[in-house]
Amino acid sequence: MTSVLVNPVSSSHKSIAIFASGTGTNAKNIIEHFSQHPFINVQLVVCNKPTAGVVDIAAANQIPALLIDKEKFFRGTGYLNELKEAQIDFIVLAGFLWKIPQTLVDAYRNRIVNIHPALLPKFGGKGMYGTKVHEAVIAAGETESGITIHYANEDYDKGDIIFQASCPVLREDSAESLAERIHGLEHKHYAKVIDKIMIEL
Ligand code: GRF
Repeated sequence: MTSVLVNPVSSSHKSIAIFASGTGTNAKNIIEHFSQHPFINVQLVVCNKPTAGVVDIAAANQIPALLIDKEKFFRGTGYLNELKEAQIDFIVLAGFLWKIPQTLVDAYRNRIVNIHPALLPKFGGKGMYGTKVHEAVIAAGETESGITIHYANEDYDKGDIIFQASCPVLREDSAESLAERIHGLEHKHYAKVIDKIMIEL
């Protein structure tokens, strides 16, 4: 009797690069979610700010951090070669503020996701990040906000929406208290949604 050895891990293995330039709480959550995953791993953290908290999170989890330079990112093939060398299949944006260059959008079409801390298409676009989003939501008198997970393309916050979850905006909310509620939603959903998309890749 002959037996054929098939290695299900190597044939279906998928690697993520997380692009982040802030504190990295979402990155931490995603790294933890996939740390025991049978065929998906976080292979690389890409960051444009050497002092960002996410660099320490990468180090604490033995994940290499690639520090990128603006000139190189937006010129020619950018960091496509480095991503290919690291065998990255999927890019997760988690607090990354630079636009994604066309080369990367083309190479990873429908394989780049972003999370936005509001219910797109409202309160998105250039300059709408961090506290500014929550301030705008409160100033507009919204009674509801939330998170949007969407495919990223060459425009800010314009790719197809994959998932949204909402939460109330309370009369007494400050941008900070609303940000905290939104962060809770992000941590609850982002890794799970990524997991679901990647299983279907
Ligand atoms: C999140 O609020 C996310 O919606 C936005 O950037 C923030 C990153 O937060 N895109 P953290 O660094 O993961 O805590």
